[in-house]
Amino acid sequence: MTEIALELKNVSKRIKNKEIIKDVSFQIKQGEVFGFVGPNGAGKTTTIRMMVGLMKITEGDIRIVGKSIQTDYSEAIREVGAIVENPEMYPFLTGRKNLEQFARMVPGTTKERIEEVVQLVGLKKVINDRVGGYSLGMRQRLGIAQALLHKPSILILDEPTNGLDPSGMKEIRQYIRTLAEKENVSVIVSSHLLSEIELMCDRIGVIKNGSLIAVEDVEKNRKIEDSDISEYIISVSNAETAKAHLDSLDESLFVETADETILKTAMKREQIPAVLKELLNNNINVYEVQAAKGTLEDKFFDLIGENVIE
Ligand SMILES: Nc1ncnc2c1ncn2[C@@H]1O[C@H](COP(=O)(O)OP(=O)(O)O)[C@@H](O)[C@H]1O
Ligand SMILES: [Mg+2]
Repeated sequence: MTEIALELKNVSKRIKNKEIIKDVSFQIKQGEVFGFVGPNGAGKTTTIRMMVGLMKITEGDIRIVGKSIQTDYSEAIREVGAIVENPEMYPFLTGRKNLEQFARMVPGTTKERIEEVVQLVGLKKVINDRVGGYSLGMRQRLGIAQALLHKPSILILDEPTNGLDPSGMKEIRQYIRTLAEKENVSVIVSSHLLSEIELMCDRIGVIKNGSLIAVEDVEKNRKIEDSDISEYIISVSNAETAKAHLDSLDESLFVETADETILKTAMKREQIPAVLKELLNNNINVYEVQAAKGTLEDKFFDLIGENVIE
């Protein structure tokens, strides 16, 4: 069984009778990088503030490695490292002094651990320089180092690439992926830019107007984008049975059932005849085959409805 690092269960947030977060549920697995993406004002920061106990949950619960942030706060928060809003740093102190200062609040932090996190975020060369002279990207990475000091199970980053130039963004992306692997930490990273998040995440959750409207597997979509594989929607008499036949027909097919009579598939155009033959030979009626838009970008814009050209 995969361990669940973070779980949101039917989380809602109301402020002055306005429902800001509406019944949001999702899970993040251990070691996974999860993108939390949506336009500005969608509710990302509000959701994250509830995850780290900065804001009360109106309804539902958030569990971190099984511990409720509401009823088991101190146990739960021990498992969390987070940057929400800008990390507080002393500009007149060096990066190392800043970390040491922070480490005093984290019992049991060793000198070795400080060196380890500095290495992890690639700040070794500049760690003895004053933070005042750091670029925004370097400051963000120092913030990540600080959040990692106590070896959390989950790292929560709210728009860590905001305001960075493309090379700064790229650096943050690379460090996030490596540290997920090296530290076996799960990462949830929010952004209003899909193109940004796609490059570093295993899965993404899309939020709009306070509702989670989709959770997508980025790997699957990458597969669709980087080849001549496209997505096709097939209407059949029985989607479950059809899926079973197609799963055993060809391993390279990606098949999922959307409802009782709709199959979603990812395949090459040349595979369509074999797929249809297989279905018809097994007495499954086929009513329609339709090419769907393939890329995650298209889907995202479909989902949030912002592909309006003005
Ligand atoms: N303290 C608050 N009081 C009232 N409304 C708020 C408060 N915090 C956030 N909101 C509203 O909640 C919505 C979601 O905001 P936010 O979570 O900051 O979105 P995001 O981080 O996705 O840009 C916005 O419409 C915002 O105006
Ligand atoms: Mg925000």
